[in-house]
Amino acid sequence: MTASFNHRLDSLQDYPFERLRALTANSAPNPDLAAISLSLGEPRHPPPDFVIAALSDTHRLQSLLATYPATRGSDELRASIAGWMAHRFSVTLDPETHILPVNGSREALFSFAQAVLSGNSGSAVMLPNPFYQIYEGAALLAGAAPIYVGNDPANGYQQDFNQIDDEIWRRTELVYLCSPGNPTGQVMEESQMQQLIGLAHRHDFIVAADECYAEIYFDDQAPPGSLLSASANMGNRDFARCVVFHSLSKRSNLPGLRSGFVAGDAKILADYLRYRTYHGCAMGAHHQFVSSLAWQDEAHVEDNRVLYRRKFAAVSELLEPHFPLQQPQGGFYHWLPTPVDDQTFCQTLLEQYNVTVMPGTFLARDAGAGNPGSHHVRLAWVAELDNCITAAERLVEFVRQGSF
Ligand SMILES: Cc1ncc(COP(=O)(O)O)c(C=O)c1O
Repeated sequence: MTASFNHRLDSLQDYPFERLRALTANSAPNPDLAAISLSLGEPRHPPPDFVIAALSDTHRLQSLLATYPATRGSDELRASIAGWMAHRFSVTLDPETHILPVNGSREALFSFAQAVLSGNSGSAVMLPNPFYQIYEGAALLAGAAPIYVGNDPANGYQQDFNQIDDEIWRRTELVYLCSPGNPTGQVMEESQMQQLIGLAHRHDFIVAADECYAEIYFDDQAPPGSLLSASANMGNRDFARCVVFHSLSKRSNLPGLRSGFVAGDAKILADYLRYRTYHGCAMGAHHQFVSSLAWQDEAHVEDNRVLYRRKFAAVSELLEPHFPLQQPQGGFYHWLPTPVDDQTFCQTLLEQYNVTVMPGTFLARDAGAGNPGSHHVRLAWVAELDNCITAAERLVEFVRQGSF
């Protein structure tokens, strides 16, 4: 590697998929069994037909591709997002000031930190542990210290913010939440979100909730809530200090479209829009157009949930007698406790059964009390039903044999 001018780059960890590649570089997967990957959380259900059809409308494309798109997004897109937020979370957003389309939530989770963090020495960003790796990289590249707030297995993988002392809160400029959580699948209670919003007002920080899995859930009576409804319900009706991140990647099986949005506090979004204007990351007008259609349709989202529910029912029935399985409230992962250390489990499973999983230690950090990802692996149930069932059967056989 060449010497970098930006020394903050040196503080970045290798991404979990690089670490997984390195871990398994010398493993010989069982050649008698077809490979099945449960390591990558990439949706594999088909994208909605109407999106493909709209993207194939050459007449419309000619006009949409002929102009520079607006960074703040088209009126139609922001209006359909506001409609969806009202329908899904019962929150009233002003499409002019409360909503900003982005190129997928990953890009936005990263760039948001660059736009809002002070860069002052001592500034801190709080994140879950285990966590989606972008939060940490975003904090480090913006010159802030990550503070890891563990998802405690003894507490249903919830975080405990009561243990944080005032000195840390004073330094905190941004708190990332992930609900439903990747990898734990747990949903944060509204009361806990409201506790955090109260702390945000007291200590002057921003709460940024990654809600990109909010549309994949298992109980129709209890769909995951949003930070913005928690905010409105406690009287914080202008969403001061609150922003949420949503995406079409998981909801609509459109990870290649790169389409999402950020919504919430109008003052913060005005600054963020200013940043994005200079950054030059407007979503293409044709993607804005089809995104607007996707946010207006619920039928394909319901169909998608049915597919995930079918898969979770099938694999859970197989796994439950053999693993201490905690069912997720949302998302498409199992965060599976393992009988041996997670990296050994991953390597040996690959060698014996040709199934790839993600070791938990790669998704978490040791913040002083051990790595909370250890003795866990993440299983992403994104493949076809038959493949998922075969993978679950192999996992069962693997623990039955016990030859780790
Ligand atoms: C927790 C979490 N947030 C954000 C993303 C990014 O999704 P996208 O950029 O496709 O919206 C992912 C993708 O896997 C994720 O797991």
